Amino acid sequence: MANRQLNREEILAALDWYVAAGVDIAVGEVPVDRFAQSAIKPAASVRRVLPTPAPQPVGRPAPAAAAGATDADPDQARALAASAGTLDQLREMLADFDGCGLKLRATNLVFADGNPEADIMLVGEAPGRDEDLQGKPFVGRSGQLLDRMLGAIGLDRTKVYIANTVPWRPPGNRTPSPSEVAVCLPFLYRQIELVAPKVLVALGGASASTLFETDTGITRLRGQWRDLTIGAHTMRAVATLHPAYLLRQPAAKRLAWQDLLSIKTALGQ
Ligand code: URA
Repeated sequence: MANRQLNREEILAALDWYVAAGVDIAVGEVPVDRFAQSAIKPAASVRRVLPTPAPQPVGRPAPAAAAGATDADPDQARALAASAGTLDQLREMLADFDGCGLKLRATNLVFADGNPEADIMLVGEAPGRDEDLQGKPFVGRSGQLLDRMLGAIGLDRTKVYIANTVPWRPPGNRTPSPSEVAVCLPFLYRQIELVAPKVLVALGGASASTLFETDTGITRLRGQWRDLTIGAHTMRAVATLHPAYLLRQPAAKRLAWQDLLSIKTALGQ
């Protein structure tokens, strides 16, 4: 019996079993060094590049990250993002943008959900499996908890705008690499500028480190209000605990509740 060829039904059953066990990436048996491959050339992969780079957002230099093999130069992303006059244009631009390696493995672009006119914008880290399948941020288990948290202070998705630091799901839900974040960041900055919220909330440590450019951990950072200027827009900003963390550590909901109450106050509700 050992090493016999599987028939079609057995192969399908094995695949079903892998999916049920959470395996959602097919890899070969022999390792492939993707960094050594040059199929995607960083500069050429940006479809539209403005002749002159746009000015950097005030006080927001791009993170110093070397572009990965499949990630474009953040300067090109910055010039491109600056040319988007509306959120629709920005979404289209991102959908056409081939300068971030994450796009290669993602099913959908996860641009945003909610109301672009909202006073409050929430920024998570990266889409997960459910978000990738539906093309919307925070629709899985942590999204359901987020909805309940927002509901507790009288908010719902008609009253908030939600995005992520990267708009494509990292394979296997890994942390996005510095070069992936760096190339996506100009698009997020432009998105924030176009929404121009009164209040910006970073959900979790990764989002807070990116937006506030700090290595301080989320436990110390959360609940600390600051003024944040991105491009021409200045807003009040705060970090809170990520709903996925709260699912794992329900005792921390007490801290998240304090943050929610201060967010409610900042919104003047
Ligand atoms: N976690 C995030 O940070 N973002 C999502 O969209 C979903 C889960």
